[in-house]
Amino acid sequence: MRHNLLSILALTLAVACTSQKQPQPFSVIPMPNDVTLSEGSFNLAGQDFYAEAALDQASHKAIAGFWDQLYKVSGKKSTLSTEDKGQKVRFIANPNLGAEEYALNVNDNGVTVEASAFGGFFYGIQTLKQMLPAEIYGNKKVHADWVLPYVSILDAPRFDYRGIHLDPCRHFWSIEETKRYIDIAATYKLNRLHWHLTEDQGWRMEIKKYPKLTEVGAWRSGTCIGKDFDSSDGIRYGGFYTQDEMREIVAYAAERNITVIPEIDLPGHMVAALAAYPELGCTGGPYEVWTRWGVADDVLCVGKEETFTFLQDVLTEMMDIFPSEYIHIGGDECPKTRWQECPLCQARIKELGLKGHGDITAEQELQCYVTARIQKFLNEHGRKIIGWDEILEGDLAEGATVMSWRGTQGGIEAAKRGFDVIMTPNSHMYIDYYQSQERDKEPLCIGGLVTVPKLYSYEPYEGMAPGTEDHILGVQANLWTEYITSPEFLEYMLLPRLCALSEVQWCNADRKDYNRFDASLDHTFRMLDVMGYTYAKHVRGIIGLPGHEQPARSEEELAKYLEENPIGW
Ligand code: ACM
Ligand code: ZN
Repeated sequence: MRHNLLSILALTLAVACTSQKQPQPFSVIPMPNDVTLSEGSFNLAGQDFYAEAALDQASHKAIAGFWDQLYKVSGKKSTLSTEDKGQKVRFIANPNLGAEEYALNVNDNGVTVEASAFGGFFYGIQTLKQMLPAEIYGNKKVHADWVLPYVSILDAPRFDYRGIHLDPCRHFWSIEETKRYIDIAATYKLNRLHWHLTEDQGWRMEIKKYPKLTEVGAWRSGTCIGKDFDSSDGIRYGGFYTQDEMREIVAYAAERNITVIPEIDLPGHMVAALAAYPELGCTGGPYEVWTRWGVADDVLCVGKEETFTFLQDVLTEMMDIFPSEYIHIGGDECPKTRWQECPLCQARIKELGLKGHGDITAEQELQCYVTARIQKFLNEHGRKIIGWDEILEGDLAEGATVMSWRGTQGGIEAAKRGFDVIMTPNSHMYIDYYQSQERDKEPLCIGGLVTVPKLYSYEPYEGMAPGTEDHILGVQANLWTEYITSPEFLEYMLLPRLCALSEVQWCNADRKDYNRFDASLDHTFRMLDVMGYTYAKHVRGIIGLPGHEQPARSEEELAKYLEENPIGW
């Protein structure tokens, strides 16, 4: 009897303890820049919301979306109103905060989110969601404690430009997958999608004036198998986005505080366009949409005036679809072999009086001429250019922004010369690179090695000349897709490296802490599970795509493996 009574007492105590609603450990990524936690918690389920009437439409929509989601998962009805009735959850305009800044307070009085603009409200909501159980990201009612810890947060990003790149050319990603990509980027407070829409292997953007770009240029006859570039699987492959679809992506991204920056890569990486319009090449073709990877010798013929007419026509339609201040014009990997032999390109060199200087050849100067001419055209239409760091080779007109990809040197040099810079060094920011040295357990990738801790360790100001740091607009990771053949594989490469990226972009240097970040990933993995994303688990000692997962080797085993299987780059 005595024994029984004690057991009942213990059980009652246990139930009482577990029914005490507890907030989950604070594991927000990216870590807000100023956080003070205190004793106490607030149960959000069923609480009425107040959103000040003066807030803009986008903010009201984001608040309503969060309110609706909370009802869906908690099953507890509440009201949302622009009338102040002393509600406990309050979204209030505060003009003293920056555009992406927010103040978030949870205390005895309830929850208050303050911001001056949509970006701040959107990010306040992202932080609130990450403070709740991961099921907030789901669609069905679940039993969970919708409890927030008492906290005071004042948060703003370190960098204005927080980008992620996507290559839909080497492999094509549907509108739905592209939206998933945007969703998860927005969750981690990124605000730019660099959409690489043209390539040798496929032109992906509908241009009404040049229908063959997508009728012909969007399709290749096959794809090389593995790293045998001369092989082909013989399977016709391709796809493109209509202008309506691209507008849909622009609007979808904007609702998540993301600006889409489209890229037309010129004058190189143009084989797909040449296959459609061979008269734009130096030799006149015929050309075929490339079935292999690498850098093609065939590039646009810039001795012909019609090439510039073509580019300006394409850019005019692009500007109509994409409201972004920046248009990315590529500029990388443009061999000069055709221009050296083309009478028209050589005539243009002569006409312009280009002679080369130092290491810079006349043909390189010709590329500078192309960049300057396109830049002038875009500037006249109120837009600015971004180009890969090759655009620094030779003269570059004021107002260009340089994307440093061949390491950090291009960015450091550009800033010294007074240009704005976006840092995407392949050493840390190429997330098409392998995630582990155990390549036998990985799906085939392009090469390299960018682990989560390596990406996390990147410090954008390192190596900068003192006083030039302000030229760094921000940081971006690039996801090229030569070897990435499925949405699951794409997500496996993206996640959780995207989360590490978000802390490089958002957190002040003194807020970064890899151990704290790593511990927070447990919650992120639960969120990703609820949302149905595929993600890599290297940080938990597991390697491989779903269905092929294997434990990582011990340090000793790895050393032996690497000795027997030395890896190149
Ligand atoms: C690049 O990776 N070719 C910019
Ligand atoms: Zn030419």
